[in-house]
Amino acid sequence: MKVISNWGVSCVALLGLMGFAWRTTPASCPIENDLPKVRGDCQTCHPNEAKDWAQSRHAAAWESDSFIATSRNRSLKMCLPCHAPEPILVKGFGEHPELRAEERPHGIDCISCHQDANGAYHGTLGTKTDAHPTVKNEKFGTVDMCATCHEVFGTVDWYKQSAWGKDPNGCVNCHMPVVERPIATGEGMPVRKARVHKFEGATPAMFQKGVKMEITPREDQLQIKMESVEVGHTVPTGPEYVVVIVETRFFKGETELSKRQTLLADNTAIDGSDTRLKPGERRVIRVPVPPEAEKAVVRVLHKRNRDFPDEQARVLYEQEVALTGQGA
Ligand code: HEC
Ligand code: HEC
Ligand code: HEC
Ligand code: HEC
Ligand code: HEC
Repeated sequence: MKVISNWGVSCVALLGLMGFAWRTTPASCPIENDLPKVRGDCQTCHPNEAKDWAQSRHAAAWESDSFIATSRNRSLKMCLPCHAPEPILVKGFGEHPELRAEERPHGIDCISCHQDANGAYHGTLGTKTDAHPTVKNEKFGTVDMCATCHEVFGTVDWYKQSAWGKDPNGCVNCHMPVVERPIATGEGMPVRKARVHKFEGATPAMFQKGVKMEITPREDQLQIKMESVEVGHTVPTGPEYVVVIVETRFFKGETELSKRQTLLADNTAIDGSDTRLKPGERRVIRVPVPPEAEKAVVRVLHKRNRDFPDEQARVLYEQEVALTGQGA
């Protein structure tokens, strides 16, 4: 496989933003067939991990437009370290990392997670190679590792109270599914239990696996049932900028009659309320149907910044419901 050395920063940024409808991947951005060039040249021997990681939000953590906006163009110093960290193994899991000097646009890269103070790479597989020193570390991939950065927004507290809370590998079991394949290129490399590095979170596939949606027209109202069946924390989770919106639009023919939105958000700092969907929670949202309505379109939108327009939201779910005979 050809390695393009100028695979750059802009590609990482764009990949992370592909959820926004108004962004498209430019033809010059070699995503499909080429590899990101990361610190430590890991991509030359670990192409699968590199390709997956490039699509992850970890790769976008520094270039994310909502991060840039909320950190006042990255001038708030306290905001920067987790979004472009030194290797977390240097201070140890549970300690907030330091901001690194080089290659910040790569966000949370391979070295941020894998490299220790001696330059060895940690994992759980116990492999030995001439390519680089490895360390078998049973703590690697545990909730304690992810908590190093993710505990600040309560994700880990919610996790511990959830049905999965006792599993020391709960985060990776949902967010890094196992695939059997060789983990490095080269002759005769054995098939191992590898973990997908896309770190999928707020994507349509993950949301629809985690939250069961059921929509039923009932006389003059539409009943939207949501049940959190496989999410080990609130929906959404993260800083209070991140919100989910349940939106219902009513139509007569092609004409939009009205729109109703319900916000799932942590508003503790604004009005003391927290309307996020809790692990295991079942919620029913009832929306009055306008008399003329023939059709409803229900969407679940995810925004990384509540101040951004709806057009920039990622659509996690969309369902059309015929209402003929229900309304008037
Ligand atoms: C020259 C090739 C090469 C390069 C470059 C390389 N690796 Fe590796 N790596 C390997 C091989 C070979 C293995 C062992 C594969 C096996 O035994 O199945 C390995 C194993 C690993 C493991 C598994 C550790 C364990 O036992 O759980 C990790 C993690 C890892 N590498 C991370 C990295 C990172 C991060 C980089 C870049 C900073 C990197 N590697 C660069 C070849 C390479
Ligand atoms: C060095 C800090 C750090 C560590 C360690 C870390 N993360 Fe993250 N993670 C982040 C940041 C920052 C973001 C947000 C990136 C963005 O969207 O700008 C994020 C985003 C995510 C997302 C969100 C995807 C989405 O769709 O919004 C998932 C899932 C995730 N991390 C899982 C994990 C798991 C699992 C672990 C442990 C193996 C882990 N993270 C370890 C900092 C970290
Ligand atoms: C947010 C932290 C994080 C980042 C960033 C990250 N990894 Fe990993 N990596 C993990 C975890 C967690 C595991 C799985 C540990 C376990 O449970 O075995 C893993 C496993 C691996 C393994 C062992 C084989 C496999 O696929 O499971 C390799 C090789 C590896 N990573 C390479 C990389 C490379 C190369 C990059 C950058 C392109 C990278 N990692 C980025 C956390 C990370
Ligand atoms: C039982 C499965 C499960 C477990 C356990 C789990 N998650 Fe999730 N996570 C999900 C699902 C499903 C989503 C997508 C729901 C959504 O859109 O918010 C998600 C979304 C996320 C997101 C993106 C959230 C957002 O709203 O932008 C992050 C970050 C995340 N998880 C981190 C973690 C961390 C860290 C842990 C461990 C403490 C963890 N998750 C444990 C299933 C799980
Ligand atoms: C301790 C580590 C840490 C620090 C410090 C931190 N973040 Fe984050 N940030 C994260 C993690 C982890 C996520 C992923 C949370 C999620 O999606 O659940 C995240 C996600 C975000 C997101 C949503 C995803 C995106 O990039 O669009 C924004 C916005 C953000 N952070 C802004 C900030 C701002 C502003 C500050 C400073 C006030 C800050 N962060 C400080 C760890 C950190």
